[in-house]
Amino acid sequence: MAFLSSTRQIPAAPAVPCHVAVIMDGNGRWAKKRFLPRVAGHKRGVETVRAMVKACIERGVEFLTLFAFSSENWRRPPDEVSFLMNLFVSALEQEAERLHANGVRLRVVGDVAGFEQRLRDLIARSEQLTAANTKLILTVAANYGGRWDVLQAVNRMTAALPEKLGSYGEEDLAPYLAMAYAPEPDLFIRTGGEKRISNFLIWQLAYTELYFTDLLWPEFNDAAFDAAIASYQGRERRFGRTSEQLAVPLAPTFSPTPADDKNNA
Ligand code: IPE
Ligand code: IPE
Ligand code: MG
Repeated sequence: MAFLSSTRQIPAAPAVPCHVAVIMDGNGRWAKKRFLPRVAGHKRGVETVRAMVKACIERGVEFLTLFAFSSENWRRPPDEVSFLMNLFVSALEQEAERLHANGVRLRVVGDVAGFEQRLRDLIARSEQLTAANTKLILTVAANYGGRWDVLQAVNRMTAALPEKLGSYGEEDLAPYLAMAYAPEPDLFIRTGGEKRISNFLIWQLAYTELYFTDLLWPEFNDAAFDAAIASYQGRERRFGRTSEQLAVPLAPTFSPTPADDKNNA
């Protein structure tokens, strides 16, 4: 099923965000504050992930997307990079069964070709194990970059549709994006105090509500998540319209031109 595009149609603005995307930042600072090595913060961060998965299921969030490792994180010291890779392996080994038992489907997006074979196999096995689950779609973005995503989509689209060169539309590209299986995020959360996107879902965040908190990722808990949802619920999602227009109910698939109707049928 194709989801409504925030720029081509007016998508639903659900009270409980259907898709929450998170930049889990601040692990290193959390550890430093405790005179621990940075990697101790990454280890603690896995516990927050576990709690967030549970919190999303309880609140009726359908898609949770977590930025675990960016395409720029390879620039970190080799020791930290290899610790993060090993942590990813051990988290998958320990959590895949539990996710499955809780009805969670795991998907990994990013350039997994950059990972060692053992990790790639484990990712494939965990995705297969949980493939039929529908309670929550948990996406882990690993070796992911928003620019990588747009470029790989463009490359695949042009290979598939060479005859449309010069006249591609959004609807041609969208199916090739790494997260074509999910609606655009309703709510974006970044912990750790930085106010930037850091090459996360640059295409998909076009109309997402952005929420930034100074809490460090290992400190982020259910109450903090509820505060983020409450902030989201206080926003007016206009998608380009005026407040006055929002008072008048519109058909959810409202299209501005007849040509759009044809493309979105
Ligand atoms: C986020 O925490 C985790 C990853 C990027 C893998 P950081 O490691 O960036 O923590 P800070 O920002 O240095 O505190
Ligand atoms: C973003 O955090 C990436 C992840 C959380 C995986 P960073 O800590 O790498 O971001 P910058 O470098 O501060 O922008
Ligand atoms: Mg950081």
